[in-house]
Amino acid sequence: MSSLLETKIAARQHALREQGLLRQRKVLSVDHALNTNASTSSPRFVLEGRAYVNFSSNDYLGLSRVPELAEALHLGAQTYGVGSGASPLVTGYSDAHLALEREFCALTGHEAALLFCSGFSANTALMKTLFDQHDIVVADKLVHASIIDGLQDSGAQLKRFLHNSLESAERLLARNQTSALITESVFSMDGDCAPIAELSALCRQHNAWLIVDDAHGFAVLDGYKKAEAAKLIDVQVVTFGKALGCQGAAVLGSQALIDFLVSNAREYIYSTALSPANAALALAATQYSTAHPELQQQLLENIKLFKRLCREANVPLLGSDTAIQPLIIGDALQTLQVAEKLRAAGIWVGAIRPPTVPVGSARLRITLTAAHAAEDIATCVAQLAQVLSRVGVPLVTERQAADNHR
Ligand SMILES: Cc1ncc(COP(=O)(O)O)c(C=O)c1O
Repeated sequence: MSSLLETKIAARQHALREQGLLRQRKVLSVDHALNTNASTSSPRFVLEGRAYVNFSSNDYLGLSRVPELAEALHLGAQTYGVGSGASPLVTGYSDAHLALEREFCALTGHEAALLFCSGFSANTALMKTLFDQHDIVVADKLVHASIIDGLQDSGAQLKRFLHNSLESAERLLARNQTSALITESVFSMDGDCAPIAELSALCRQHNAWLIVDDAHGFAVLDGYKKAEAAKLIDVQVVTFGKALGCQGAAVLGSQALIDFLVSNAREYIYSTALSPANAALALAATQYSTAHPELQQQLLENIKLFKRLCREANVPLLGSDTAIQPLIIGDALQTLQVAEKLRAAGIWVGAIRPPTVPVGSARLRITLTAAHAAEDIATCVAQLAQVLSRVGVPLVTERQAADNHR
């Protein structure tokens, strides 16, 4: 006889499979032939013996494959060992961590920083520690799951404003004595940007903190990396797994905030520290991105090329100007079907389904990087147009496409 939990697991998995929402991992490997020139060719991987061009990575600047950064990781491991060996408050905090914290402060103008092993734990730690049942917090409708989880754990009263709507945010701020407003610099599933300067002004007017998850903006969008960031943003969360191409995260803010988190954030206190080698790597990656502005330029050119080709082929994008280019299909099963057909042509794009995005807005999430070659971008768009018309997803007219792209 099946146990209660076995029965529950089987029923839930069955339901997810029926709705096209079952999630499964794929084991990827490296294409050694194609990776000899890794830092100068389009990102690729091999799955079951077949190579794919990767259009679903957040390695926006291609830093994960830069030889100098592999060297920095190696040197960090040789110097400090491969792990930190303890939580930061025991013996896990080293001069490698401090150097990275200082670099972030110099770049953004924040007073202090605190490192975490992932963006997810940085966000949940920040929310859970900073807020309690006495706080009212307003957040954009589309903020990341880690923020929502942390807020739910905190017991704070959460009020959501319409995505990127200043009017909706202002209404909530005017009606509630709000502790903080939370948004993202670049939204992970839509690729659009929050109006940070305007939200900051609203927050100042209502005496609330502005907290920005800068996971997809840091090192890609100039604005919030420069020393002005701290003038607009009270707390900035930077993750290393996107444009920095490595792993980990930092919370940046006032010295008082960071001291408070050091004493109270359970994810920080009761967890093995980010390895010093990874901190050294993140420092090298940050410095590399600053020293190589041509990578940002190349990324912008690749985004422009992709959007222009889509417009010419009547492929209906959502209107983002960032590396994240969503194409909404709506139905989850149809989205999977389109992604599968692209894969058959050697193009790998993410098929994003609920609950990651709202029901009825399943989508392809195509991400561009500085490392994509122009011919691979052209192939991607040509295949997209072909597959969408074969599957019966409506292409837009030239005029609608122009509207979408504004
Ligand atoms: C907006 C946003 N915040 C936070 C995270 C979590 O960061 P990490 O991948 O480092 O855990 C992600 C990752 O998907 C994200 O997209």
